[in-house]
Amino acid sequence: MTSDPRLDLEQHQNEALAQIAAAADPGALEQLRIRLTGRKAPLSEELSRIGALPADERRDAGQRANAVKRAIAEALDRRGQALRSHGAGARGEAEAIDLTFPGAPPRRGHLHPVSLVTRDMEQIFRGLGYDVARGPEVDTDYYSFEALNIPKGHPARDGFDTFFVADPGSSSEPDPTAETNLVLRPHTSPMQVRVMEQQSPPIKAVFPGKVYRRDSDATHVPMFHQLEGLAVDAGITVADLRGTLEYFARAMFGNERKIRLRPDYFPFTEPSLEVQVSCFVCEGAGCSLCRHSGWIEILGSGMVHPNVLRFGGIDPARYRGFAFGMGIDRIAMLKYGIEDMRAMFENDVRFVSQF
Ligand code: DAH
Repeated sequence: MTSDPRLDLEQHQNEALAQIAAAADPGALEQLRIRLTGRKAPLSEELSRIGALPADERRDAGQRANAVKRAIAEALDRRGQALRSHGAGARGEAEAIDLTFPGAPPRRGHLHPVSLVTRDMEQIFRGLGYDVARGPEVDTDYYSFEALNIPKGHPARDGFDTFFVADPGSSSEPDPTAETNLVLRPHTSPMQVRVMEQQSPPIKAVFPGKVYRRDSDATHVPMFHQLEGLAVDAGITVADLRGTLEYFARAMFGNERKIRLRPDYFPFTEPSLEVQVSCFVCEGAGCSLCRHSGWIEILGSGMVHPNVLRFGGIDPARYRGFAFGMGIDRIAMLKYGIEDMRAMFENDVRFVSQF
């Protein structure tokens, strides 16, 4: 049996074109190109045999083989282009920018622990029917001291380390005894008399805000925050003060807290009372936060001095009141366990966003 070694050109072309059309990617097409057009390709061998043909067949066979060769080369080119543009399309799709995709969210700020605690305090006292008011940070000597029963020369003035504000309108030396002298308020207590002047009892209000003292060391800064409270009505007693501040301490530090009152001294209260809360870290057993006493001082308070009521235009024979003042920064540090006061002023968002 002899088989014709010559290639059936038509069949070869059909098979080759079918394979080219089926090549799925540029790699497969390249393999195919080598197989169909390389030196060992059936068509190449066929072409190399043409020279041995009789002259009358040679021309015709050469033309036919070359036509097949061209057809295969063109098919390879077209398929190559098709695969490349398809690949580019797919890559384009993968890399395209989706304009409807939401952008990276901007980093938002966070309320400072002092702001958080101030809000908590306002909320607690609003719940007890207190108004919230704010007053001037630059105030007069009169409201800051005089009307609070701290006259000129009173030793209690020393404790306030006050910043005095020069009056830019006056060319003469300031008169250190003038009640109109301006100060950066060293406490929020001036609001007591300001509000008594404007309202008649019953008065229940708290006054949060910034206060200033010429004090700067590891545990003191020249600006800090206080919340002042004032209640004036007929028949107010120390029991009201105690009940109110115990309610506050529990709302702020937890329901199991107890408070105790210790004698203290402020010129604007009589009697004056320091309020301590049972330690919420050790529950009274003794730890470094409460200096092993089981108790932590949180505020100063007392029954409003009759002189202060009078300065406010309120008759001490008819009305009495209690007042209190606390450091908001200190309460925030206690509540959140912040040990280094400087962290409160560094404006590091990683710090403030913890609370
Ligand atoms: N003003 C006082 C201070 O800054 C705190 C204070 C104590 C306020 C007793 C009061 C009070 O209203 O009754 O040290």
